[in-house]
Amino acid sequence: MSGNPERSRALLLEEFGTLPRLVERPVPERPPGHTLVRVLAAQIGHLDLNVVDGRFGVLPDLPAVPGTEAAGVVLASDVHPEGMPVRVRGGGAGLRRNGGWAEHAVLRDSAVVPIPEGTDPALACCFFSPAGTAWAAVHAVAAIRPGERVAVTGAAGAVGALTVQVAARAGAEVIGVVGRPAKLPHVPAPGKAVLAADLSEEAVGGPLDAVIDTVGGAVLTTALGLVRGRGRIALVGYTAGRDFSVDLADFLLKDVSLLPVNLMTRGAEVAADADRLLADINSGELTLPIERYPAERLAEAAERLRTGEAVGKVALVFD
Ligand SMILES: NC(=O)c1ccc[n+]([C@@H]2O[C@H](COP(=O)([O-])OP(=O)(O)OC[C@H]3O[C@@H](n4cnc5c(N)ncnc54)[C@H](OP(=O)(O)O)[C@@H]3O)[C@@H](O)[C@H]2O)c1
Repeated sequence: MSGNPERSRALLLEEFGTLPRLVERPVPERPPGHTLVRVLAAQIGHLDLNVVDGRFGVLPDLPAVPGTEAAGVVLASDVHPEGMPVRVRGGGAGLRRNGGWAEHAVLRDSAVVPIPEGTDPALACCFFSPAGTAWAAVHAVAAIRPGERVAVTGAAGAVGALTVQVAARAGAEVIGVVGRPAKLPHVPAPGKAVLAADLSEEAVGGPLDAVIDTVGGAVLTTALGLVRGRGRIALVGYTAGRDFSVDLADFLLKDVSLLPVNLMTRGAEVAADADRLLADINSGELTLPIERYPAERLAEAAERLRTGEAVGKVALVFD
């Protein structure tokens, strides 16, 4: 908790394109329809950095506190019990209005969702996107079957690491593909780890039934060549490049389906499965790597996320 209950630390964004400054301010007032949350952890996500950079379609008036996803406990509310552990997402938090990069955050009641007692707050603010996306990619989109051979790119990333584990649980033989050698040991068991630069049929041990691609770009072009006829590619992200080229004659001949994964359209559909994955990650049955930083180290945390050096999710912790 903050030393002085009247004062509270917050990361305040004063100019787009600069990083927010750590300031001390009074605990914010709570208007009707809003809940005051003592934030214990807040995600630093790609979306948050786009807001900080002023490069997103919805931006707050400045100064503002960024942070689209956070977790903590309810301090005051007309609808949520005091002391209830919660996660926070939506309602414009961190976009149109102040978000969770602060020890105290005032949020719309509807943006505050209960989480099970004992859930790690850093996990609670980070799990939904990777868990929901991994589930949607493996089950709803790629429809992975037991015994299939599946490659997952970006396998040390947040979505990739969970996708490796969800696909393995579905009975697949999983090959995790990473871009840099330092990430090889971070591919979670039971995935086999391969360097993207070495991708070949020999390296992956024969033709693949499916690829779940979280990086896009040239890696997708290579992966496409490794999938058997009538196989599937589920595309999740494009950090390695927005474009990929394909010879349409080869594409038709190959007969591989290229399928988009979109958590925005599938969020409600996978919410219950994501919650089940949260329980399994919290109990240690599954792994979601999270790098944790105090607010003073925001610059370092943001840099690791921007450069792709971070392993898994990145979170601010307010103890
Ligand atoms: N379609 C959807 O609904 C949906 C939902 C959630 C996320 N996404 C997208 O899926 C992608 C993966 O998400 P994530 O949370 O797993 O991301 P992440 O952990 O930040 O990154 C995944 C991997 O991408 C590579 N990478 C990241 N930043 C890079 C950079 N600047 N330069 C080169 N490589 C970089 C890294 O792999 P290596 O070091 O192994 O190269 C990293 O492990 C993101 O693009 C995200 O926006 C899409």
